[in-house]
Amino acid sequence: MLDKADTPFAPSARSDVPPFMVMDVMAAAARIEAEGRRVVHMEVGQPAAPAPATAIAAARAALADGRIGYTQALGIATRRARIARHYAEIYGVTIDPSRIVVTTGSSGGFILAFLALFEPGDRVAVANPGYPPYRHILTTLGCEPVPIEISAQTRWALTVDALTALHRTTPIKGVLVASPANPTGTMLAADALRDLILASEANGIRFISDEIYHGLDYAFAAETAVRFSDQAIVVNSFSKYFCMTGWRIGWMVVPEPLVRPLERLQQNLAISVPTLSQIAAEAAFDGRAEMEAVKHGYEANRRILVEALPKAGLDRFLPVDGAFYLYADVSRFSHDSFEFAKRMLNEAGVAATPGVDFDPVRGKHFIRFCYAGSSADMREAVERIGRWLR
Ligand SMILES: Cc1ncc(COP(=O)(O)O)c(C=O)c1O
Repeated sequence: MLDKADTPFAPSARSDVPPFMVMDVMAAAARIEAEGRRVVHMEVGQPAAPAPATAIAAARAALADGRIGYTQALGIATRRARIARHYAEIYGVTIDPSRIVVTTGSSGGFILAFLALFEPGDRVAVANPGYPPYRHILTTLGCEPVPIEISAQTRWALTVDALTALHRTTPIKGVLVASPANPTGTMLAADALRDLILASEANGIRFISDEIYHGLDYAFAAETAVRFSDQAIVVNSFSKYFCMTGWRIGWMVVPEPLVRPLERLQQNLAISVPTLSQIAAEAAFDGRAEMEAVKHGYEANRRILVEALPKAGLDRFLPVDGAFYLYADVSRFSHDSFEFAKRMLNEAGVAATPGVDFDPVRGKHFIRFCYAGSSADMREAVERIGRWLR
């Protein structure tokens, strides 16, 4: 019999989630750089620019002032009011600040939202390809993520037909939609979003709208789910448009009956969201002019890639509507995107993320490029890829 001390340490089954492969690409890129070789980074989905100067100044002032204590679990009241005002300013919709929940990034928002909405065993639809942590957070919480294949036929958008067909055969409790989306960079038109929300509500399906890439829209303006329903759950973040990934701060707009359950969850799981980040985030709204300049940089990068990548050999990619991603079909060159990304990194010095991170099957034919870096980097990347593929 095994002595207790000899028993191998067994982590829980629920903690057995797959890794995020982009992290492995980052590690491989770092090894190449340690050898003194140059790598153009297009793998990680984060802005190269810092947080708005207004946010940094507010954080400095708060630090100088000294005490950084807990806040109310739902967030500092003035911050919640400021976020509500953002909806009036950007979308022209009025929401009661009491429906705003401040979260530790949108990642913290998903955990809270899934806990408040779903029971273990509940089935929740997610688009495939999609952001991997949706699936992995749901699995960890005992729910079942149900992938719905999206494709070029519907401009890579989830449709009412696909959603209701799935629900008819095997009912789902929720659906999660992102526009602009990661990894595809595609967006839903306002009426498509509205139709999905109305169809979900007619079928008793909870609708969660990931709006983290709002503000980064180039083809047309992104629409918020708040406009169409007070039952939808909107998840958003300061990470992308406001360049505040490391501050770990986001928010949700939730239906009124969920406010108190979410408050109790947040009280127990985290007490409150980091105070310094809440202070900085409120001031970030005053830094929009600076962030618009950063956005213009992404627009320039997008133009460079859309024009030059086809000439370099990668001429098949999805509509580049928003966020800072381009999802390129590399099936002319490889049926193993992980291998392709590894070779492109080693031989061309360009780091990008294999599509298998986002779609285990069709992702074998795709690579995701993030264009949140400098325009000089984009030109260099295209030039390197062109030389490599020739
Ligand atoms: C689609 C999408 N949602 C959510 C997140 C999580 O972001 P955060 O927790 O920093 O707000 C990301 C991060 O890349 C993302 O791409």
